[in-house]
Amino acid sequence: MSRTALGQRLPEIRVPPPGPASRALARRLRDVESRNVTQVTEKWPVFWDEARGANVRDADGNVYLDLTGAFGVALLGHAHPAVVESVRAQAGRLLHGMGDVHPPSGKVELLERLAALSPWEDARVVLSSTGSEAVETALKTALMATGRPGILAFEGGYHGLTMGALAATARSLFRDPFLARLYGGVAFAPFPDPVRYGAGAAERSLARVCEILESGVTASDGSVHPIGAVLVEPVQGRGGARVAPDGFMARLSRMAADAGALVIADEVFTGMGRCGEVLASARVGLRADLVCLGKALGGGMPLSACLAPRRVMDAWPESGGEALHTSTFLGHPLACAAGVAVLDTIEAEGVLERVRRVGGRLVTKLRTALGGLEGVADVRGLGLMLGIELARGPELEPSAGAAARAARIALTEGVLMLPAGDHAHVLELTPPVELSDAQMARAVDVVARAVGAVA
Ligand SMILES: Cc1ncc(COP(=O)(O)O)c(C=O)c1O
Repeated sequence: MSRTALGQRLPEIRVPPPGPASRALARRLRDVESRNVTQVTEKWPVFWDEARGANVRDADGNVYLDLTGAFGVALLGHAHPAVVESVRAQAGRLLHGMGDVHPPSGKVELLERLAALSPWEDARVVLSSTGSEAVETALKTALMATGRPGILAFEGGYHGLTMGALAATARSLFRDPFLARLYGGVAFAPFPDPVRYGAGAAERSLARVCEILESGVTASDGSVHPIGAVLVEPVQGRGGARVAPDGFMARLSRMAADAGALVIADEVFTGMGRCGEVLASARVGLRADLVCLGKALGGGMPLSACLAPRRVMDAWPESGGEALHTSTFLGHPLACAAGVAVLDTIEAEGVLERVRRVGGRLVTKLRTALGGLEGVADVRGLGLMLGIELARGPELEPSAGAAARAARIALTEGVLMLPAGDHAHVLELTPPVELSDAQMARAVDVVARAVGAVA
């Protein structure tokens, strides 16, 4: 067994995953969890037992290299010592508070720090636990501020599965069973697709944006919903690490402002350094009126936030003791302590610069390894949000399911990745910034083999 500390190791597969311990847990899980939640087969899932840095150890003792960052959360690495220490200390003092009634003292520092990283002088913040909740807050705020209920969102976008966020999430798989309850005033514009539309990709998308902003959305009952919110990810994450062409986000911001709609930057995935800036909006030229954060913000604790300048957030009335929008775990003390530790660590460890450097090297190595491979349409990304798009033929037809197959092959070699894109045709890489040279070299090797086998 390797003597290198967990976190710095290369993959070590002792038993083909899932091993007997994972399979035994899967049988127990199947008897008690809703069958919708975790796919259970003889070959799935692998249960995690321990994680540090870029490594995860499963219930059978296999060690993996985690290129998912656990849905993008572990940007600083799994169980960063500063986060763990801060949570441990907080747990010994105050485990739970009363967020909006008798707030835990640690909430104030987190709010101050979040306000300071925002693009506005007078930011106001609403905390919550999940990314979907931050999106719900932003959508409600935009309605309060504009009085216009309509939402413009993008094809390929993912904003969460609670009812408000789901209404603005494009993928039919998630929407279809609930269509009867979903808000009908949402219109989807195409997200620019330079792979298929080249230099015309931005124009094609903006032409549709312009139409929607002008006409609003006509719902199935004939009612017209003028657009009050433009909801967009600075880089589409689950849509397949899709980066819009230069200038697109700035033009989108101007068009929204001219139409009197507020721009909601859904930075749940891209924010907190994932794309090499605290806010990816700043990198892609998106001028947001509201920003949603989540995932990496809590360093592994459930924590999310919606930020906006006063001119927007003060659309909410002052609380008279009964908040119109809150929740039991708002400002949870452990999550707040973790959030402050994450922000400290981003500064103390030069994380933004490292994300740009590590991400730049990784994408270059992947391009070299995959260059010229038939079936690889694009290797792209910003910072440490990378995607390998698998498509074929003159029309670049997405290779449906190919990224899911590649991820399963890589798993057998001890490398964790997720499929993304509407057709599971993009291999998504959102690794921790703690990726040693040896780990990166192995990751590229395994990715190239897995992609070569399916592309
Ligand atoms: C951009 C974006 N917004 C919102 C969400 C929803 O976050 P959560 O799953 O924490 O509710 C996600 C989750 O992947 C996301 O990627």
